[in-house]
Amino acid sequence: MNTTISNFASDNTVGVHPEILNAIISVNNGSAVAYGEDEYTKKADKKFQEHFGKNAEAFFVFNGTAANVIGLMGLTESFHSVICADIAHINSSECNAVERFTGCKLLTVPSADGKITVDQVKENMHVLGEQHHAQPKVISITQPTELGIVYTPKEIKTLADFAHKHNMFLHMDGARLANAAVKLGVKLRETTVDAGVDVLSFGGTKNGIMYGEAVVFFDKKLSRNFKYVRKQGMQLASKMRYISTQFIALLSNDLWHKNAEHANKMAKYLEKRLKEIPKIKLTQRVETNGVFATVPPRCISLINKKYFIYTWNEKISEVRLMTSFDTKKEDIDNFADYLKKVVN
Ligand SMILES: Cc1ncc(COP(=O)(O)O)c(C=O)c1O
Repeated sequence: MNTTISNFASDNTVGVHPEILNAIISVNNGSAVAYGEDEYTKKADKKFQEHFGKNAEAFFVFNGTAANVIGLMGLTESFHSVICADIAHINSSECNAVERFTGCKLLTVPSADGKITVDQVKENMHVLGEQHHAQPKVISITQPTELGIVYTPKEIKTLADFAHKHNMFLHMDGARLANAAVKLGVKLRETTVDAGVDVLSFGGTKNGIMYGEAVVFFDKKLSRNFKYVRKQGMQLASKMRYISTQFIALLSNDLWHKNAEHANKMAKYLEKRLKEIPKIKLTQRVETNGVFATVPPRCISLINKKYFIYTWNEKISEVRLMTSFDTKKEDIDNFADYLKKVVN
């Protein structure tokens, strides 16, 4: 059995928030219509409309990779391309699922913090109308980026306006959208639909739910055929109520906000503690719930003896540390004290 501590490996190593678990238990009361035709899923849909506006339509799926893949399937044909950052999760960590299931080519642009700009997107546009080339159809951004950095609503709007001007769409991977909204001090809609996002992968797993994510459309014309895409994509849960009830709880009583706020706060505290260790160098600004730092190369295996953490960039001995709704200050203190010993 692996006895290492995995508190900081990811924000999905922690358990389920008690309010979410209670919500699951509360719907476990006899039968309900299957495949999302139940009263809980209807209520969950209303919750999404409360947060994202009356045109929002949420389609629940099993995980974040599926949300990205079928969300993009809903926007593209197989001769299209999707422009994204080189470190975008869809490019680096989804085992080519997007390419396989959409048939689209991913056109990547280099990014130091995970953000992309219109100027970078423009470099891929000269192929428009050329039958020999995959046709750019979607710009996909991650909010916050895989390095924990946020796009401002204005930056998103600039990308959305460019996409729409070229008959393209803006997709957002919002696996940690709540953490970005907390950092920006804005409502969920301000960094998504109001900024011009067409389709959103809305994450819950990293913010306290057990499983399930949502593909959110903001335009009924675009979502017209999406229920078929989801079914064909094998993402239509028959016992849907167990996913939808979790989103009702997450989007009620500010739970999404409280959880993300705590995770972000803990990341700042972790940053502070790491700064006390001269041999550890932070490599990114800490804006949300990820902390990136280089450690002396010989130390990674020593750290991993007690704490399971991911090496982000082996070449520079950079590690990624994540905090969550469940991170405690004393966990950070224990971890920082251990790091101090190991690196010195
Ligand atoms: C930015 C981002 N998008 C999508 C995903 C995919 O989520 P899942 O592991 O549920 O497929 C992750 C998971 O780590 C992620 O970090």
